[in-house]
Amino acid sequence: MNIIVLFSGNGSNLENLICHFHNKTVAKTLCKVIPVTNNPKAPGIQRAAAHGIESIVLDHKKTDSKEAFDTKLVKIVQSHEPSLVVLAGFMRILSPIFTDRIKAVNLHPSLLPLFKGTHALERSFTSGMKVGGVTIHWVNQEVDSGTIIDQVCVNIDPHDTIESFTQKIHAAEHQLLPKVIRNLLHQMQANPA
Ligand code: GRF
Repeated sequence: MNIIVLFSGNGSNLENLICHFHNKTVAKTLCKVIPVTNNPKAPGIQRAAAHGIESIVLDHKKTDSKEAFDTKLVKIVQSHEPSLVVLAGFMRILSPIFTDRIKAVNLHPSLLPLFKGTHALERSFTSGMKVGGVTIHWVNQEVDSGTIIDQVCVNIDPHDTIESFTQKIHAAEHQLLPKVIRNLLHQMQANPA
């Protein structure tokens, strides 16, 4: 089963997924993680390389338009016949060219439907709420609005700083995302589409 992970930057979730799934067996099937990025300078490329995995780079600055980028991205994704596509820190808004053709899950650092869009983690931290969290949802045409698959709360404690809260959010992401993906892969094996 191929798991395509789309990322744009640091890639800590990508690396975590590589550790959990690459060349590992889930539901009696060998998994491969295929990293794809729009950013040729993304540190995640090095993270994947350290595990012997080459990332596919589709530089959005070298495509003529958003539509051209999404069309190429769809071709790349489909060519690998993925069982699952995961957006983990992928900083491009995808048009229906992508969302109508590719079923994907997205990782978001807030308790959706609160704090959709960019800087969600910071906005959640400064909101005055006592909890933030992490959400994994299906991708649809609206940003951070698809059906929620799973989410966890992360406490915002009085002594937390944005740095400590960020660390707690990432730790929660690193727990939740592999758990959700494992469940989805098991479901897919049990009930192939
Ligand atoms: C994560 O916080 C994710 O929720 C958000 O972007 C961040 C990516 O982190 N969409 P990393 O690149 O996986 O370290």
